[in-house]
Amino acid sequence: MYSKEIKTKGSSTIKLFLGDCFVGMEKYLEKNSVDVIVTSPPYNIGVNYNEYDDKIPRDQYLNWLGHWAKIAKEVLKDDGSIFLNIGSKPSDPWVPFEVALEMRKHFVLQNVIHWIKSIYIEHESYGEKVELNVGHYKPINSKRYINDTHEYVFHLTKHGNVELDRLSIGVPYKDQSNIARWSSGKYGLRCRGNSWYIPYKTIQSRLKDRPHPASYPAELAKMCIQLHGIEKTELVMDPFLGIGNTAIACKELDKNFVGFEIDKVYFDEAVRILEEEDYA
Ligand SMILES: C[S@@+](CC[C@H](N)C(=O)[O-])C[C@H]1O[C@@H](n2cnc3c(N)ncnc32)[C@H](O)[C@@H]1O
Repeated sequence: MYSKEIKTKGSSTIKLFLGDCFVGMEKYLEKNSVDVIVTSPPYNIGVNYNEYDDKIPRDQYLNWLGHWAKIAKEVLKDDGSIFLNIGSKPSDPWVPFEVALEMRKHFVLQNVIHWIKSIYIEHESYGEKVELNVGHYKPINSKRYINDTHEYVFHLTKHGNVELDRLSIGVPYKDQSNIARWSSGKYGLRCRGNSWYIPYKTIQSRLKDRPHPASYPAELAKMCIQLHGIEKTELVMDPFLGIGNTAIACKELDKNFVGFEIDKVYFDEAVRILEEEDYA
């Protein structure tokens, strides 16, 4: 399988394979070797990928992902974490739930994270109304469906008891005068909870600035790896690499990474972005 190796500024290696992750995971990865898998498989909702057919019969799709889960479980360490991002479309909202049930055959669902892409908040503060209208989403024109501004990230583990570094992505307490009451208060941070607002960057041209039809922000992958625990993480994998956003997160965090992508156009784009010195 063709591969490309990119060094980080520190001592880590980003290794990208052009090929099928089912074959690659079995051939190139040792059993019990991966600490964190952050990935977003195809959702089977008819996304227009270059190569992959995203509209196969649902049973076939779920079997395919079930087979993937079996191989992923073998290469994952016993105390490893999978962060599986799954979205849907308004006319086919069952996909994430069906995928979660398929994963249940192999893993424990330790946490459910809601990736919020856009939100409107109206808040009354000291008698003054504050409005926040932020983020990006694909607007749909419909009398039946509301805009979809959110996706799931399922945190799957082998036994449901992986200890997390919650404060690595913690947020400041609202009332700092009360923090001494809580044991973690000394850091001035509390657990962020499971609703993560992470917007896409504002772009000028879809084709030029985000040349993939279903990518996530590198920040999402970064937060998942931090939550699992930076210090204990030696190897991160994204078997459905796309244009390499999990790899970008690993480059920023200086973590070893391995990824697979079947589509040469996306693979080449990932290599190009990762080889750029300053990609922020
Ligand atoms: C939802 S996208 C992932 C996007 C990625 N998270 C990003 O931010 O760029 C799924 C990707 O999986 C790739 N893919 C589909 N089947 C694959 C397989 N068997 N092995 C490796 N990649 C595959 C598709 O070409 C597509 O780029």
